[in-house]
Amino acid sequence: MPANTALESETKTIANGPAPREAVLKMAPYHPPTGGRRNKLRLDFNENTVGAPPHVIDFIKRYLTAADLSIYPEYEHTLEELAAFFKVAPDELTLTNGTDEAIHILINTYVSEGDSVVLIEPAYAMYRFYSQLAGATISEVRYRHGNLAFPLSELLEQLDANTRAVLIGNPNNPTGTGTNVDGIRQILRAAPNAAVLIDEAYYEFSGVTVLPLIREFPNLFVSRTFSKTYGLAAMRCGCLFSQSANMAHVRKAQSPYSVNALAAMAVRIAVQDRTFVEEYVLEVLAAKELLYLGLERLKIPYIRTLANFVLFEAGERAIEIRDELRNRGVLVRDRSYEIPGAVRVTIGTRDQVQRFLSELEKIW
Ligand SMILES: Cc1ncc(COP(=O)(O)O)c(C=O)c1O
Repeated sequence: MPANTALESETKTIANGPAPREAVLKMAPYHPPTGGRRNKLRLDFNENTVGAPPHVIDFIKRYLTAADLSIYPEYEHTLEELAAFFKVAPDELTLTNGTDEAIHILINTYVSEGDSVVLIEPAYAMYRFYSQLAGATISEVRYRHGNLAFPLSELLEQLDANTRAVLIGNPNNPTGTGTNVDGIRQILRAAPNAAVLIDEAYYEFSGVTVLPLIREFPNLFVSRTFSKTYGLAAMRCGCLFSQSANMAHVRKAQSPYSVNALAAMAVRIAVQDRTFVEEYVLEVLAAKELLYLGLERLKIPYIRTLANFVLFEAGERAIEIRDELRNRGVLVRDRSYEIPGAVRVTIGTRDQVQRFLSELEKIW
């Protein structure tokens, strides 16, 4: 073969690149939030709509040293203080790079290719994302038709001793619905060999938690995040809780410095003063009632929520309503691709809800 032909065929092979794993080939690409959100009223990603807690920003501005950023992160103090805050032992808690990493390391620790993972749909996209990435066999139970209630009996029917993981948002995103502590107990009993993750990203709004049950159920994992109520989504920090023996396995599947030093510092300061969070939750709960009234006045059907967002029914106009609102500076999320006609709006302050309602009224 002439030299240049050999080179050409070699380049061709390299240009094609290595073949990805089968599980990756099968996945649809995930599209993260679009850019250009800063100067709009951001009611599309369930973040805190008033910004990060001022006492956290003040602390970072005043006390951040050059060494804080030049040395690899040390988590000891953050772990101790968060453990005390959440009333668990430090070895019952793993600090994670957002809930996303909690889901990722849980799956990496417990789910092999072909293993059975049970999800309730529609739900937070990352449950499916990491399960698919692991090559799991996913069984799916649907939230109930119409009122999108938590399908407890249908879920219990799907669970058995072969289930390796069950991932549940309680309350769930995007439905805003959930189950109670007794419901979770039944799930834990029905899937004795599974890692059961109860994602409590919206706990501060729902007030329902199963965190104290980690002592009772060795198959229970609970996650919390600083991305929502705490106003620290950009920091990417969350916590995963379970019995210490489980945490020891999970930590082996985590890279050693996945939470950055600034995030570890910010969350430590965030839990020192609860006033910001308490006031924000009260404001959102008041704004929720205002939103319900406004939607009722416009005769728009909606689902009552346990979280800081509401799904409302825009029928055929879901995408158009989202786009029209965006043109008026208000961002909401179209969810009609998974629940026909559904649009999701984050509940912010009463003023923000008022602004959303007045823009919606103009285009409805
Ligand atoms: C149910 C649920 N879990 C987790 C997350 C993401 O949390 P984090 O920012 O901690 O990764 C979201 C974000 O929308 C969510 O709705």
